[in-house]
Amino acid sequence: MREGTKTSPKTIIVDLAERSYPIHIGSGLLSGAGELLAQHIGAGRIVIITDETVASLHLTSLMSGLVGGQIETIILPPGEATKSFDVLQDVLDQLLRANFTRDDTLVAFGGGVIGDLTGFVASILKRGCNFVQIPTTLLAQVDSSVGGKTAINTPAGKNLVGQFYQPKCVLIDTDVLATLDDRHMRAGYAEVLKYALINDPGFWGWLDANAGAVLSRDETALRTAIATSCTAKAAIVKRDEFERGERALLNLGHTFAHALEAVARYSGSLLHGEAVSAGMLMAFEYSEILGLCASEDVEQLRTHLTQHKMTMLPGLPTKLKIDPGALLAFMERDKKNTRRDINLVLTRGIGKAFIHRAADKTSLLKFLKKACKS
Ligand code: GLY
Repeated sequence: MREGTKTSPKTIIVDLAERSYPIHIGSGLLSGAGELLAQHIGAGRIVIITDETVASLHLTSLMSGLVGGQIETIILPPGEATKSFDVLQDVLDQLLRANFTRDDTLVAFGGGVIGDLTGFVASILKRGCNFVQIPTTLLAQVDSSVGGKTAINTPAGKNLVGQFYQPKCVLIDTDVLATLDDRHMRAGYAEVLKYALINDPGFWGWLDANAGAVLSRDETALRTAIATSCTAKAAIVKRDEFERGERALLNLGHTFAHALEAVARYSGSLLHGEAVSAGMLMAFEYSEILGLCASEDVEQLRTHLTQHKMTMLPGLPTKLKIDPGALLAFMERDKKNTRRDINLVLTRGIGKAFIHRAADKTSLLKFLKKACKS
């Protein structure tokens, strides 16, 4: 991939009436960030919130692209622990001490942790401030930076305190993925695959042929994968911004995944995308057991995941040592549930996901026992 080469970006609109915003996707966009963001940045200062890793790799490029005006930075430690009440309070204090006003703009420059935290800060600071997303991981580019979910974690679980709060713009520079390691590329790719598995068999066919090119960061393949993912997400968010129904489909595999992440104690040793790969396969396998999904579809997914080294689960105790009861207990706390029922995203095949309400806990536990042994 050529670093810093400017191409004309592809633009997708997230259509939410007065809260609509563009997603610009292309190579070399950081160096033209000032121009692309001009109409979305207020008259005042820009405060870039980022982490130490992204700052050391890409902050200079972004700063050079944001010519003019007063630019400040808040640089946080990398990792999930940054999405905490303590860091939230510290960032709010810093912004208030600097008299951040509603004319000013926050820039979330990083992966999902930075995007979720910055979005939440923007949503509550002075009852709502201007913010834009510049995601730097594949996972954040195809999922977390789009759609306005913001949150921090608490001891009770991941993302349990947060708001829906849309950015003014999302700027996706595919060049930044050159510095992302292969493991994080695969983790992000799980969320790309998710869109195909939900409702797009055509995209599944394309990914089955082009996953290798996406994972090796071929510029054209990446652009297609990211644009198709963002278009799919924008369409669902337009129809169900506040997740009253259809948007829950974007959680395919996530109820299983969040339970696996909880078992791994959110240690960072199991990446979210890695848990999502495993969780999507579990959703397919459980659907097969319920007689909803053909075994050929499950096998196709299993083969694809194996081919692209997406079936290993680092950070977990060996499967024999995972307590299926503990997994079920975590699944019972999922945000999609009602007081009594576990709601799951299941499937009738590739591209045919649906919301399955009130899952039968006995058969689910039986499945988890089998999955933990296999
Ligand atoms: N990451 C799932 C959603 O935004 O709804």
